[in-house]
Amino acid sequence: MGIKILGTGMYLPEKVVTNEDFTKIVDTSDEWITKRTGIKRRHISQGEYTWVMGLKAATSAIKNAKINPLEIDMIIVTTISADFAYPSMANVIQGKLGANNAFGIDICCACAGFVYGLDMAQRYINTDSDINNVLIVSSENVTKTVDYTDRSTCVLFGDGAGAVVVTRGENQAYSYLGADGTGAELLYAHLYPANNGFTDENVALENSKAFPNETGRYMYMEGQDVYKFAISAMPYAMEKACEKAGLKPKDLDCIIPHQANIRIIETAAKRMNVDMDKVFVNIQDTGNISSACIPVCLTQLLEQGKIKSGDKVGMVGFGSGLIYGAIVITV
Ligand code: UT7
Repeated sequence: MGIKILGTGMYLPEKVVTNEDFTKIVDTSDEWITKRTGIKRRHISQGEYTWVMGLKAATSAIKNAKINPLEIDMIIVTTISADFAYPSMANVIQGKLGANNAFGIDICCACAGFVYGLDMAQRYINTDSDINNVLIVSSENVTKTVDYTDRSTCVLFGDGAGAVVVTRGENQAYSYLGADGTGAELLYAHLYPANNGFTDENVALENSKAFPNETGRYMYMEGQDVYKFAISAMPYAMEKACEKAGLKPKDLDCIIPHQANIRIIETAAKRMNVDMDKVFVNIQDTGNISSACIPVCLTQLLEQGKIKSGDKVGMVGFGSGLIYGAIVITV
């Protein structure tokens, strides 16, 4: 019972926006953004669809895994920025890949999406002998949900995709997932207004105020509350996942945290009693790309030879929901 990683891939859009670029559109500075977040630049989509970025990452992961798309049994797409209400991103990507033997599922687990996807992949592989190879694609076009007049959120996010092919293996991955739905109103973005052919505009306006701080189609975030949640939830989830694996976070060879804010990452590392040299950080170059952060980090770690076969890697995410999750995997 268990899984192993066969191949990984990533895609970041060509367009890079620096902190300096933001000083031209909002009242901010490179100094503020760098000091408070650790971000220097981020890649942003120029109208590239979420599925297109996901497909590019998936194609690269499949190539690295040295398998044929027809050998994929299941596709899990994690995203909070799907292109369509329907069909699923997983079905679109299945069709474009020609992965005709796979079924697909989208999951919306915000920035913890990849951890949830990996957990789900293992559960399918462990319980269904027909499922051997699972493709997880985490693709995000978060910037389309961001208000570029709101300096407190617009500087934080980027776009991109990461993908991983996992297969049946000998080492069990250990996960710990959780949520606090009372925090749903702290970080959200609407999809579509609930209007139809019989909608009374005045009634609809009242009904649309279901959450206290409606911002139309744009992201609403109580940054400080999310920050406080993150610095508790990340160490808690990582410790719980490690406990199941019979380890402590400091025993891991490497930790890949969700890349939301360098101060969150450093505080969580301290609380886990883990040296920062074991914690992978690329936030300076990507910003927060939601669920794509962790698989992009994983791809870069493997490409740079910073992790090797047999290493124990902990991945931990948190985000809108409020949601959290950690997983310990042997690469
Ligand atoms: O994937 C999960 C998604 N979200 C997160 O992880 C976000 C978690 N939260 C955070 O990372 C931080 O709370 C932020 C980076 C969002 C904000 O940092 P902060 O240190 O909590 O700043 P703050 O909200 O307390 O604001 C401090 C000041 C305020 O000015 P005043 O009221 O003190 O005059 C803000 O208006 O900084 C101001 N400010 C800015 N100044 C320059 C907020 N954004 C900016 C900005 N440039 N971009």
